Amino acid sequence: MDKIHIVGGNRLHGTIPISGAKNATLPLMIASLATSETLTLHNVPSLQDVVTLSRILGNHGVDYTVAGRRSGSASGQGSTIKLTAKSIVDTTAPYDLVRRMRASFWVIGPLLARMGEARVSLPGGCAIGTRPVDFFLDALSALGADLSIEQGYAVATARKGLIGNRVSFPRVSVGATHVALMAAALARGESVIENAACEPEIVDLADCLNAMGAKIEGAGTRTIHIQGVDVLHGAEHSVVPDRIETGTYAMAAAMTGGKVTLEGTRAEHLSAALDALEQAGVGVERGETSITISRNGNGIQPVDVTTDPFPGFPTDLQAQFMALMTRAQGTATITETIFENRFMHVAELARLGAAIRLDGQKAHVDGQPTLTGAEVMATDLRASVSLVIAGLAAEGETTVGRVYHLDRGFENLEAKLSACGAQIERLAA
Ligand code: EPZ
Repeated sequence: MDKIHIVGGNRLHGTIPISGAKNATLPLMIASLATSETLTLHNVPSLQDVVTLSRILGNHGVDYTVAGRRSGSASGQGSTIKLTAKSIVDTTAPYDLVRRMRASFWVIGPLLARMGEARVSLPGGCAIGTRPVDFFLDALSALGADLSIEQGYAVATARKGLIGNRVSFPRVSVGATHVALMAAALARGESVIENAACEPEIVDLADCLNAMGAKIEGAGTRTIHIQGVDVLHGAEHSVVPDRIETGTYAMAAAMTGGKVTLEGTRAEHLSAALDALEQAGVGVERGETSITISRNGNGIQPVDVTTDPFPGFPTDLQAQFMALMTRAQGTATITETIFENRFMHVAELARLGAAIRLDGQKAHVDGQPTLTGAEVMATDLRASVSLVIAGLAAEGETTVGRVYHLDRGFENLEAKLSACGAQIERLAA
């Protein structure tokens, strides 16, 4: 298995182009199941999760082609893909495919809405928590589906089509909001989603569905109104920039010191994280489509953060911010409220010399003057990248194992960091 090898201590200087968002691309690709016409997506990142999902969609009958790069864009800045689900050949998503990526469960929404049936394997647990699917099933049932669990599969039917209704979530869920949107877009009559997720990726999906002929209003707020339509048609859509990738490189630059411009991104999509960086004493310049992060000589101040649904501090940046706080001049408390088991990077950061005390959903990070390189590995995507960030600032050599986690969600990670002066390379197994 490949490893990432880092020699720490270099300040980062330069420009990093930000890719299209993984967590927008996945639901957008799934939306292609809702129409028999072609959905063209631009600015699609080259990631393992995109490849995995294209295989899963292929199993349902989606024809997938990579149409080439956007004209004028440099290599690595996103491909254009075309997805055509002319006819759905199979409404079952088998365990062997769904277990590889939890988001593939979301195919249940458009399959059910278009075909009146879907049989989708339950995704099972994952490293960051149990992540049940009760909100999805309740939402589809509110829209008139009959649901049962049979031999590990969620079986949903709505032979006469879905019927618009009120869907009220007990807690904010990104995935369940995506699925409710896709299902309600093709339901008969009006639906209202209450306590909807407001993440930029939800707005991106709603914009794309509207371009396909859906009638959705209020995406980006807690209440979304949908007027169902009979059919959706083909459309072209460009994927929103990746706010988590942006925040990750912002924290890397904050940690090593130096000055890095993150290009092709939207500062308003990560206000909570940028505010926390400013409180930590990091320079943040917000441009229209770029953000410049700088830290020259001054120390990192401890800042307490609590993860929350958007616009709160994102759980997907919690591990990276913790890495930064390991070098703070004092103690920072980081509280995780979204997932019950998202502190697995703590033990690995400790191998680099971090001092972190866990107390339930809180991590108290006692900042240290230095970290020292070590061999580490992580169990999920964001945890892995937090170790890369820590390694960039640590003295000596760090090797990060299980690189396949990084390949799921960071396009050209080593190239983007090397271009800014980091000493980082991939070692083939
Ligand atoms: C999305 O996961 C993201 N994944 C996650 O990013 C992200 O961490 C998460 O949202 C929170 O922002 C994608 O977009 C592909 P949720 P999702 O449903 O939709 C509970 C990454 O690293 N819940 O918003 O699966 C759930 O257990 C990934 O890129 C239920 O109880 O997250 C969690 O505690 C990891 N029942 C909370 O809600 C349900 O039916 C929020 O999860 C559904 C969710």
